Amino acid sequence: MHHVCTRVQKASRFSHQHGAITCIGDLRLGYYFRLMIEFSHVFKSYGRGINALADASFHVGAGEFVFVSGPSGAGKSTLLKLIAGLIPASRGRIQVNGQDLGKLTARARPYLRRAVGVILQDTHLLNDRSAFDNVLMPLIVTGHDPATATARARAAIEKVGLAGKETRRPIELSGGDQQRLAIARAIVNRPAILIADEPTANLDHASAERIIEVFRDFNRVGVTMLIATHDRELLAGHSNRILHVENGRVYDEKTLAAMASATAGAARGRP
Ligand SMILES: Nc1ncnc2c1ncn2[C@@H]1O[C@H](COP(=O)(O)OP(=O)(O)O)[C@@H](O)[C@H]1O
Ligand SMILES: [Mg+2]
Repeated sequence: MHHVCTRVQKASRFSHQHGAITCIGDLRLGYYFRLMIEFSHVFKSYGRGINALADASFHVGAGEFVFVSGPSGAGKSTLLKLIAGLIPASRGRIQVNGQDLGKLTARARPYLRRAVGVILQDTHLLNDRSAFDNVLMPLIVTGHDPATATARARAAIEKVGLAGKETRRPIELSGGDQQRLAIARAIVNRPAILIADEPTANLDHASAERIIEVFRDFNRVGVTMLIATHDRELLAGHSNRILHVENGRVYDEKTLAAMASATAGAARGRP
């Protein structure tokens, strides 16, 4: 599926490195992809308290669309902030887009920031300027010339369905449109990964579904998507992979389902 893993494989099952990028696959099962996010025995504690995240290990492949579920206080936001490099892990290894976050040099940091688009729970939209200027700002910060920046901001606004509302201030937009604006601002630097923390929390179900549809559009063109939500109704309507977080532990729902059926099988096999 993704360009980087092109070396001809001799073994049907493999896992190997291209520089810092890990590729895994099983040709008999027909999957073959490069990893975008790798957590290996990651712990996070804030101060001396209990672990907000404990021994988290999981992979996300390039181009995946993943929901991060779990009750409030479970550790979802912590997980997303770690991926975005906004907070450091207490223990363990995190690799994002081929970079070990624990070993990031000052020079590599801006590349990570550009590779990961982040929409936090509090969108931090600036009400003292227009919607357009909110989207333009990250491009000015990363040093684009004004003509390119303007063209890109316009394209981003169009992609999220806000064309015609550029001159409004964020506060003059509906909740759904504010969320769209936060998305436009997060994708304007063309990140490989887009992370959204409870992006539908303040929206009715129909608006929430339309926001998920915007994320799907980006995912279709290759952006790896992670969406944290505690909204069970939203999750029930989609068949994507779910990383479930509870009490700081991360469970892959597919693994859980396999474990459950194995347990059920064992139970059935009992005399
Ligand atoms: N900055 C912080 N300082 C101390 N504790 C925190 C901080 N952020 C989160 N926590 C704690 O870590 C745990 C996980 O929080 P969080 O990742 O925000 O969960 P979720 O997003 O699933 O609601 C909670 O017990 C929360 O109180
Ligand atoms: Mg949260």
